[in-house]
Amino acid sequence: MTKNKNNQAIWGTRIQNSTSSFFQKVGNSINIDKRLYKEDIIGSIAHVEMLFKQKIISFKVKNKIIYGLNKIEKEILKNKFEFNTKHEDIHMNIEKRLFEIIGDDAGYVHTARSRNDQVITDFKIWMKSSTNKIDQNLSKIIKTILKVAEKNVETIMPGFTHLKNAQPLSLGHYLLAYVEMFSRDKKRFLKNIESLDENPLGVSALVGTSFNIDRNYTSKKLGFKKPTNNSVDTVSDRDFVLDYLYCSAVCSMHISRIAEEFIIWSSDGFGLIKLSDKVVTGSSIMPQKKNPDLLEYIRGKSGSVYGNLFTMLTILKGMPLSYFKDLQDDKEIVFKTNDTLVDCLKILDEVLNNFYPDKRKMLELANLGFITATDLADYLVKNHSMSFRNAYQKTAAIVNMAEKKKKRLEDLKIEDLNKIEPRLTKEALKVFNLKNSINSKKSYGGTAFENVRRMIKKYKRMI
Ligand code: ARG
Repeated sequence: MTKNKNNQAIWGTRIQNSTSSFFQKVGNSINIDKRLYKEDIIGSIAHVEMLFKQKIISFKVKNKIIYGLNKIEKEILKNKFEFNTKHEDIHMNIEKRLFEIIGDDAGYVHTARSRNDQVITDFKIWMKSSTNKIDQNLSKIIKTILKVAEKNVETIMPGFTHLKNAQPLSLGHYLLAYVEMFSRDKKRFLKNIESLDENPLGVSALVGTSFNIDRNYTSKKLGFKKPTNNSVDTVSDRDFVLDYLYCSAVCSMHISRIAEEFIIWSSDGFGLIKLSDKVVTGSSIMPQKKNPDLLEYIRGKSGSVYGNLFTMLTILKGMPLSYFKDLQDDKEIVFKTNDTLVDCLKILDEVLNNFYPDKRKMLELANLGFITATDLADYLVKNHSMSFRNAYQKTAAIVNMAEKKKKRLEDLKIEDLNKIEPRLTKEALKVFNLKNSINSKKSYGGTAFENVRRMIKKYKRMI
């Protein structure tokens, strides 16, 4: 067995000159992957337990290794472990220290495995728990939105298309749109658990191993559903990383959209919502300013998250099978994405708990732009047996007339309407009322107040 003298690389017998010191400095990953120390130790313990069960290592060696690994974990927790860039990554750092603690028996820990399967085993365990944390943060946001929506079922605001007043709706209904988006994010992330649940450990460097290992045993021990099927694919595959990054990109796009929405709504031009002082910042020169920096921050961060997805896609493109050093960057990309996304989810939750709709302003804006014109067209179809296109033209003429007279639709007199459609009676004017308009949208998924209340109840049962 190779002697592992301190500070000598494990491959020091074969490679007799030390690697370029500059490359050692830039090519190591310890400061990034030390985050995987817990998973690495758990993985190694499961591995040696399996090796013992399969009679590949002795009881004594297994116990010594587990003792050493537990000691290392305590050292790391107490900040007493010295992470050394010379030993490249977390796997080598731990193995090196194991030699120092238990001596040459540490040399058995790497039987029937390689860093190639070790690293993705650690990584997948880490990503599963990261996914669960993201899921919890998403649930928290959904709960907050439901709380705000519940208070605003009857808050009337203009719904926009092209940012022009389109049709009136309930603010509660509007917010529930984001519940749908964040629920889909949850589903998307949880679906990726399926691939994260396949255990890479035991495929070794790329072809499997001649040792009589039991991969089902380590799968069970480490909480995986099953072992991966193909050794070459296992060490080359980073689809689970791409899926995670894609889920994150979509989620951050949703965060960015609601952020943009709130930035517009809180602008002086719109003034539909107010942000409390907790979620704004000031200006160094303009004393009056209260800027929506938190929202701008999370809108901007979606750019980095998209970038991470593209970085990983590009690293993988054109890479032959199986493991290459290029893959080392996957950890940094995922860790950065996780940290950014979790921060953004927390910030969004804070904003959602600290904004106030200006109901008067919302109503005022909803009263502009002939917003109930479609309701009149629908009325004509239903009550005067017209085709929708015909009704649309008549209504457009009525809108033109209102615009000329500088009046809102509801301020027109029935005599005015009759110049365009003589059959209309006073009864028709009711369709211009915002509340009537909203409450007529009873179709499944529509904005009628009772629909919104029902949906909130449904979501609450789900969460
Ligand atoms: N630090 C490496 C990584 O994260 C571990 C795998 C090393 N394997 C190798 N064959 N050099 O990718």
